[in-house]
Amino acid sequence: TNMHVQVVQNQTAGGLAGFKVFENALDNGAQVLGLATGSTPVTIYDELAASDLDFSRLTSINLDEYVGLTADHPQSYHYFMQQHLFNAKPFAHSFVPDGMNPDADEETQLYDALIKANPIDLQLLGLGQNGHIGFNEPGTDPTSTTHKVALTESTIEANARFFDNADEVPRYAYSMGIGSILKAKQILMVAYGAAKADAVAAMLQGPVTPDVPASYLQTHPNVTVILDQAAASKL
Ligand code: GLP
Repeated sequence: TNMHVQVVQNQTAGGLAGFKVFENALDNGAQVLGLATGSTPVTIYDELAASDLDFSRLTSINLDEYVGLTADHPQSYHYFMQQHLFNAKPFAHSFVPDGMNPDADEETQLYDALIKANPIDLQLLGLGQNGHIGFNEPGTDPTSTTHKVALTESTIEANARFFDNADEVPRYAYSMGIGSILKAKQILMVAYGAAKADAVAAMLQGPVTPDVPASYLQTHPNVTVILDQAAASKL
């Protein structure tokens, strides 16, 4: 397979393993890093933040953002990136979709133009329990570019822990499409925990199908997958 799977002991070890993938990409001249949010990438960002890597001439482009949250809302992905990486390691340019832009066509077209002008060298991805990547829920067109997404009930519930209650979780997001993600030269997919095991098995061993957006990674030439033992338990 095109997918190099590495099983690590725990999320701390995964942070180190993920860090090495970034370090290698930078050594090989990567200029544009595609970044992700969620609990999964946190240990990688810890390693990057504590490292001597220099991002000050690089560009970062994040996968997605909730519609309706300001950049300084504690649950916005802007805020997350600031806290977990950008405060410690500023980039020359960092882009996250503007969740406060009420004009979805304008925002998504701007973002696609940005990705086109700054092709992503390494894209970091987490995995939804239902196999989503970014906010590309099951059923998303595999050729999709940046678009406005209605979040599924399962994603709203999974993310509700970060809000006071499920009613406060945004119902929409702007997300890079599956097609945009697959254009990255290299992809680093990371998943931890038993709740991801079904999605991991479907991603790696199931058919390539819109039912499992992550299964399209099977069609990409250069994917590294970092898993803990629980996430790898159904392989
Ligand atoms: C959200 C994000 C995804 C992320 C997923 C899993 O839905 N949009 O990018 O991969 O959650 O999150 P976690 O890493 O917290 O399990």
